[in-house]
Amino acid sequence: MKLHNAQKTCWNCPAIDLAGKVDFRACGQSVEAFERGPDQEGDVYVMAECKRRPELGLFDPMGITFEECPEWVETPFGYMLKDMRVMILGIDGYLGWTLALWLGALGFQVSGVDNYSRRDWVMERGSHTVVPIARMTERLQAAREVLGININFRRMDILDRSRLREFIEEVKPEAIVHYAECPSAPYSMIDADHAIEVQRNNVLGTLGLLFIMRDTVPETSLLKLGTMGEYGTPLTGRPIFEGMFPADAVLRWRGREWSLGGELTPRDPVSFYHVSKVQDTFNVYEACKYWWLRSYDIMQGVIYGVHTEQVAADPRLRTRLDIDEWFGTVVNRFVAQAVVGIPLTIYGAGEQIRGFISLQDAMQCMTRLICSPPEPGEYGVVNQMSGYYSIRELAETVARVGRKEFNLPVKIQRVENPRVEADRHPFEPIFERLPNDFGFEPQVSLEEEIYRMFELLTQPEIKARIEQKKHLIIPRTWWSGMKKQVETLELWEE
Ligand SMILES: NC(=O)c1ccc[n+]([C@@H]2O[C@H](COP(=O)([O-])OP(=O)(O)OC[C@H]3O[C@@H](n4cnc5c(N)ncnc54)[C@H](O)[C@@H]3O)[C@@H](O)[C@H]2O)c1
Repeated sequence: MKLHNAQKTCWNCPAIDLAGKVDFRACGQSVEAFERGPDQEGDVYVMAECKRRPELGLFDPMGITFEECPEWVETPFGYMLKDMRVMILGIDGYLGWTLALWLGALGFQVSGVDNYSRRDWVMERGSHTVVPIARMTERLQAAREVLGININFRRMDILDRSRLREFIEEVKPEAIVHYAECPSAPYSMIDADHAIEVQRNNVLGTLGLLFIMRDTVPETSLLKLGTMGEYGTPLTGRPIFEGMFPADAVLRWRGREWSLGGELTPRDPVSFYHVSKVQDTFNVYEACKYWWLRSYDIMQGVIYGVHTEQVAADPRLRTRLDIDEWFGTVVNRFVAQAVVGIPLTIYGAGEQIRGFISLQDAMQCMTRLICSPPEPGEYGVVNQMSGYYSIRELAETVARVGRKEFNLPVKIQRVENPRVEADRHPFEPIFERLPNDFGFEPQVSLEEEIYRMFELLTQPEIKARIEQKKHLIIPRTWWSGMKKQVETLELWEE
């Protein structure tokens, strides 16, 4: 069977420089104005040069496929550009560190930056990661010793544009994965200072990056992390498409009808953090339009889990896992609660439905996207999730695994909902592009990953770290601004 990206061509490859009688960067939309080649009636005259194979001279970028090019080699995740240089912004984080090791093990040349703000934000709330993580110097050394991976790391704030630009010019990454944002909805809802800090960090960091990419590495693909929370949960029950309306979607109004195909779908963010992601969406979309940048905007579901082969290879290689009300995502928090005997907290009715994906499956998706770069000017969106569950179902699954496999007396409680959200709603997410266009096949079931989490979190050292911070699990941050611990509404033993 052909690999999913076998038929992509140099047109998609970050190793080419586009050349010819076309000023690409200047006019993304006015194809008519392009000067046409002498014998190519109707065709746009675009040529390319390959930075890796200069001996080819100028050639037609559609002419060579990944399958034919010796620079692209076969891997389990599609063809991969040999020694491809990938820069991860936010490399010290939950996903960033995991991806660095994952890509390093596959033979990518990994570089990255981080300013450790996640460590600072968690400390500011008086919490800690319950899976202990090493300092960056120790992480880098362990990656070298245990996995033979050399990571080119620079400590910096991505808002420091001159330093970021310098590092990008030095490394010349062929893909940039942008994780470097504050990922927490409740943190952004604490007060004005926190809301402003999250939006400043996230929105301005991304905007500055786009300008740097335009000026230094316009052929590089940008993999920008958004979230499924950008869409909200449309109460009409209409499907949640992948960023844009499909070609056959129509708007009907007062007896007239228009195509909606290709238009961005409405966003309905659910916190000031999610608003920052929506603002990013528009900034990235515009940059692709104005400057022919190439980007995938990845609407990621909530991640759960602790496991990949690489992070489990040595305790110094572990990635972080948070369980407090601000930074603990729901499945990770539920498993920790089950381990220390706090009834799992369902907010409100518990019928809120969200998209989810395991840590390992998210890494697979990212690799497939990196290996299959968007074409010039493309703003592509994928909904990255492997399934969807109600919060009540998740609690029941964690309770079942905890009771049956680990003999824990897990209880579930319903508490007041501190958020402003519908707690009963229709939900029909479309998540077809990753499996259909990029060959993604989920490898890890929810139960399996929950089992692995219990294995790790019941270890005495980690259980003790959960005990130390368990008073930070039950929420006190209300979307209304109120600060009061939520009350229990109902408690179930079994
Ligand atoms: N974890 C999830 O469930 C989830 C779900 C959907 C989307 N996302 C998105 O994925 C991305 C990564 O999430 P994560 O869970 O790994 O979060 P994380 O906080 O663990 O990782 C983000 C990293 O970026 C760094 N960072 C933040 N601002 C920075 C700046 N200005 N300069 C340099 N470094 C900076 C942080 O120190 C941190 O190490 C985020 O954009 C998040 O919004 C996460």
